[in-house]
Formats: sequence, structure tokens, C-alpha cells
Amino acid sequence: MHAVDLIRKKRDGERLSRTELEFLIAGYVRGDIPDYQMAAWNMAVYFRGMDPEEITDLTLIMAQSGDTLDLSAIRGIKVDKHSTGGVGDTTTLIVAPLVASLGVPVAKMSGRGLGHTGGTVDKLESIPGFQVSLEPEQFVSQVNRIGLSLVGQTGQLAPADKLLYALRDVTATVESIPLIASSIMSKKIAAGADGFVLDVKVGKGAFMKTEEDAVELAKTMVQIGQLAGRDTMALVTDMNQPLGRAIGNALEVKEAIRTLRGEGPERLTGLCIELAVEMVLMADIASSRQEARQSVLESLRSGDALHKLRELIEAQGGDGRVVDDPSILPQASYTKDILAGQSGYLQAIDPLIIGMVAMELGAGREHKDSVIDLAVGIELQTEVGDYVHDQTVLARIYANDQSKLEQGARQVLQAFQFSESQPLLQPTIYRKITAQEL
Ligand code: URA
Ligand code: CA
Repeated sequence: MHAVDLIRKKRDGERLSRTELEFLIAGYVRGDIPDYQMAAWNMAVYFRGMDPEEITDLTLIMAQSGDTLDLSAIRGIKVDKHSTGGVGDTTTLIVAPLVASLGVPVAKMSGRGLGHTGGTVDKLESIPGFQVSLEPEQFVSQVNRIGLSLVGQTGQLAPADKLLYALRDVTATVESIPLIASSIMSKKIAAGADGFVLDVKVGKGAFMKTEEDAVELAKTMVQIGQLAGRDTMALVTDMNQPLGRAIGNALEVKEAIRTLRGEGPERLTGLCIELAVEMVLMADIASSRQEARQSVLESLRSGDALHKLRELIEAQGGDGRVVDDPSILPQASYTKDILAGQSGYLQAIDPLIIGMVAMELGAGREHKDSVIDLAVGIELQTEVGDYVHDQTVLARIYANDQSKLEQGARQVLQAFQFSESQPLLQPTIYRKITAQEL
């Protein structure tokens, strides 16, 4: 077999067999196939696409290119949740303890933030003492003991994807739905859960800018999951404004705690409830959607979900008192309130600008190895549809550096658009994609 023949085949719109894909990916990982041939193949995929079985083969080959987690020692149906990345998206910190409190085993690996989007691992690290790296045996035994563990990536999950993603990044081939879907699903499958609830974001602050593309990505990932024997469904959700009101690591932990108390922002709370219901159903621990929803609401109301977060924090070495007293989280030295300076309805809050400003304050990474400041960020005080006056506080900026505070204060106002008339409110959830409707 020769790489050039496989590139030609894809260039001409044919499908590659599993053996051919194995030859290509394994050869690339070993270094036998050079970047220029892999880049040419990626570009051919960008223009020609792949069929569902072909995408699934590619995904499984990448998933098996490195370590895979064996979660079989954990009792029950392990359900993982994945968000394609947004701004103010604190859902994992809320949904994971929420469903774990109901008996869904959650053994979850999360990532760090990059660019304008945050990462769960960074947020967890803002809790004093919290350890995000556990040995695989500890990880598994903790889930059997308390039903939940949240860690950073350990070992080498899907190294083929890591290499390919870096190559796509510099060859204008990131924006290919088969390549994105296989990239994401290879890492999820390697992380070992039985089923996946996916949150595919769409809008200005998301990877997918149009609903059509987001739906296609969601369908492709659901199909991969099903063909790979893992129960998978997706919600396509709004990222035309930040999901929650907090953007920044410690600020988002505080918001997660507030939400688990039932005092969170409506859109964030609503999406967390829907994601939790899907996870409970996938884990087969409720006999109907109505029962799942009742249990989820009851766990929030009773404080069971919040208690589970405390158990998680304590099990991983963190200071559990944080759930009663968020003031023990890192605090920023300076804050500044941003006033509207005019009256009108809030027509839009651009999540990309909010995310970029938070990043520049130090909450996020410009490059993979940038150092972040866990205390800083933005707390929105308003949302789209609110009527504001001249003196209404739109947002509060948290910084540890006076010049960054001033710079953030100047920039953040650009995220807000005002209008005379009441804007039409977008739903948080646009679509639900299940295997049945593919
Ligand atoms: N996220 C991933 O993990 N992979 C992609 O290809 C795009 C986004
Ligand atoms: Ca089921």
C-alpha cells in the first residue's frame, strides 16, 4: 500500500477501507508517512467528505492509537458529557454532581481552557487543594465509592488525534465535519464511558457558527457513537451569548455552587437540567422522562446535588467548605463596574468578545502554555432582553492588575448591543439529535 494511492482515492471521492485508514494513521503516528502526505489527505477529506462507516473507522483507529481507559470495574452504565466549548459554560461542574447524586456513575476526564473558551480542569483547580490528577485505580475506586470523579487527561489518549489536529491547524483543514467529529469522538471513546451526552454549541462564541453546521456535526457524532456501540445523543445549544453570567475560573465555581443551590441564572440552570435528564435516562436509572426530570429537580431542591459536589471536592483533596463559603476561592484585588451609559434593551452580548476580554484579563490561555490567573474574569449583571438605564451595571470586571482592569473595562462594553425595541429571545436549546432520527 502507498500513501499516494490513498490520497488519490480520497481526492477522487472514493471511500477508504478500514485497512487503508489503519495504514495511513499508523504510518503517520510512526513517522513513516510525512506531514505533506497527511496534509494532502486531510485536504482531500475537507473537499470530499467521508461516509459514516469510514468516519467511524477513522475514529476508532485514532481512539486505539494510545492509552484507553478501562472503566469496567465501575458498576452501572457510565455516562460522559461533552461540550464543544463555549463561554460561561459551567455545566460540567453542575451536571456531574447532580447526576452522580442520583446514581449515574460519572468517571470524567476534562480539558483545560484555550482561547476564549474555559476548561473544567482549570475551574476545579481554583478550589484550594483540589487534585485534578489521580492514578487510574484511584479514579475508578473513587467512582465506586462516591459515584463521581473529575480529572484532567492522564496518559496518552488518542495521540493520533493530537498529531493530526496540530497538522490540521496549520493546513486550513480544521473546519471539516468528519475530521472534527472523529477528533472529538476518538478522545471520548478512549476515555472509556458507555454513553455520551453531547452539547454542541452554535453561534458567535462557538466553533460552529450556523445551526445547519452544528446539526450536521451533532448528527455525525451521534452516528459515530452508535456505530461504535456507545449510546450517544446531542443537544444543539445557543452560544450567541454567554451561557451563564460568570466567565473566569473561580467565578464559575462560585456560579456552579449558586446554581446547585437553585439560585443560578435561568439559561444555565435550564440547560443543566436538560443535560442531566438525558444522562439519567441514558444510565437507565429512571423509567420515564418525567421521572428523570422529577429526580433531577428534587436533587437540586433537597441539596443532594450540592452535597455531592462537596463530597467530590473532599475526595480529591480540596477544601469542601467552599460550598458554604465561596469566599475561600481565589479573590481578585480589583473590581470595576461597567455602566450602560445609555438606556434601551440589551439586544446582544457577544460571547466571543466577552471570552476574549476574560482571556486578556488572565482567565484564559492565548497559547497552550500561557499561565492563567484563577481569580480574574467577568460577571455579567444583565442578560439579553433586559431593559437597562444609563446607570445600570452591565458587568463587573475582576482583575489583579490595574492596567488590565482598565483595558478590560474599555473593551467589554463593545460586547453589548442596545436597541429601542425588545429583542426576540433565542431559546437555549435549538435541537435534540437522537440515534432514532438519523
Ligand atoms: N475540538 C477537537 O477536539 N477537535 C477538533 O477537530 C475540533 C475541535
Ligand atoms: Ca436507555
